[in-house]
Amino acid sequence: MKFFIDTANFEEIKEAHSWGILSGVTTNPSLVAKEDVPFHERLKQITELVDNSVSAEVISLDAEGMLKEGRELAKIAPNITVKLPMTPEGLKACSVFRDEGIKTNVTLIFSANQALLAARAGASYVSPFLGRLDDIGQDGMTLIATIADIFMLHDIKSEIIAASIRSPQHVTDAALNGAHIATIPFNILQQMFKHPLTDKGIEAFLSDWETRKNK
Ligand code: E4P
Repeated sequence: MKFFIDTANFEEIKEAHSWGILSGVTTNPSLVAKEDVPFHERLKQITELVDNSVSAEVISLDAEGMLKEGRELAKIAPNITVKLPMTPEGLKACSVFRDEGIKTNVTLIFSANQALLAARAGASYVSPFLGRLDDIGQDGMTLIATIADIFMLHDIKSEIIAASIRSPQHVTDAALNGAHIATIPFNILQQMFKHPLTDKGIEAFLSDWETRKNK
């Protein structure tokens, strides 16, 4: 499973990129709204740093508007992926972008049928939202496993991005359940490094080093 970072904050992207683990970035209007830089400017900055997929979401609700916005976004850099909502209008735009060779990420997926529809409309990525399903008492992880099984069974090439990740355990479980990618907030990526025995081990190595005879 590959790692994307789920943020529009450039400092966070720069730091995660420096760890050598990043295969892409996802943004959404809520994440972009937290930043004080114009959207296209921020996307340019991100695409210059990260060679892989950078998802940028449209805000239009009609296919025509989505196509207009998406084409403008795609002009920013060849690694822009246009993020579209899981609606009939979103899928109309998705199938046009497939024919135009523009990559797409269909977002706000909460059922296996939605994922299947998006894949058949040519989505490069489908994004089921784990955490938001858990929030309403449903099992987000079972959805990831179901979509992974269906895509495998029918040889579907769209990649599954486990989104709305809320904990390191979500990441492990998404990998086990067949997600191709997890898009992870920066604070969760940081938590993934942590283990008390790692800290304790470093402390012990350093204090033993200080006691060496031939200083
Ligand atoms: C995915 O692409 C979305 O940006 C994101 O994962 C949503 O997560 P949230 O439910 O924490 O807002």
